Amino acid sequence: MAGPETDSRGTLSAAAESPDLAAAAGPGTSSAAGGIATAAGGVTRPMTEADLEAVLSIERHAYRYPWSEMIFRDCLRVGYGCFVHEVDQIVGHLVVSCAAGEAHILNICIAPPWQRQGIAHHLLNVAVERAQLLAAQMLFLEVRPSNVPACRLYQQFGFNEVGRRPGYYPAPHGREDALIMAREVAF
Ligand SMILES: CC(C)(COP(=O)(O)OP(=O)(O)OC[C@H]1O[C@@H](n2cnc3c(N)ncnc32)[C@H](O)[C@@H]1OP(=O)(O)O)[C@@H](O)C(=O)NCCC(=O)NCCS
Repeated sequence: MAGPETDSRGTLSAAAESPDLAAAAGPGTSSAAGGIATAAGGVTRPMTEADLEAVLSIERHAYRYPWSEMIFRDCLRVGYGCFVHEVDQIVGHLVVSCAAGEAHILNICIAPPWQRQGIAHHLLNVAVERAQLLAAQMLFLEVRPSNVPACRLYQQFGFNEVGRRPGYYPAPHGREDALIMAREVAF
């Protein structure tokens, strides 16, 4: 993951959303974000700085190249859509940016024991609602071609490959391309 506003799991740059619109998607943001919609149950709510310890722990367990605390703090500071999904404890998170009619999923991650229970699918619906709220027409993301679970998730959710960034991600033996995937928000 990591969208156009970040390097390959690196530093966040500008392109913040309108603070007013970001605030409009705050607590109680939307039906999907507030509802129970997964096999595991639970509730999705906006992420706060108090959640970062749990979020970073999930990152480290789920990714070979996890985001740093600084990246999450930057995402919160600029008003990106940052959400956590809770089932008693935090079990997953989502970061989505929105600007100029485009939304970008920058991070979606589920704690390994909670995977394959529909939580990521639910969080993709939250991303779509966020994009609709901010009047985006298209939703984009980047994914490693080697990340089969994520590629299947996105294909199942209606994303199509629209491009490729050569050598975008660090990899154990050099670099790995990023697939750019997109789908219309109003589907
Ligand atoms: C990719 C990831 C977010 C999926 O989360 P999840 O909550 O397990 O996904 P869901 O349960 O919502 O699965 C929805 C669909 O995705 C696909 N999928 C998910 N995990 C899969 C796996 N391990 N193998 C194959 N397909 C998989 C399936 O099509 C699945 O539908 P199904 O269960 O009806 O077959 C999760 O594996 C994860 O957090 N991985 C580490 C972080 C990461 O790679 N994030 C994406 C970066 S681009």
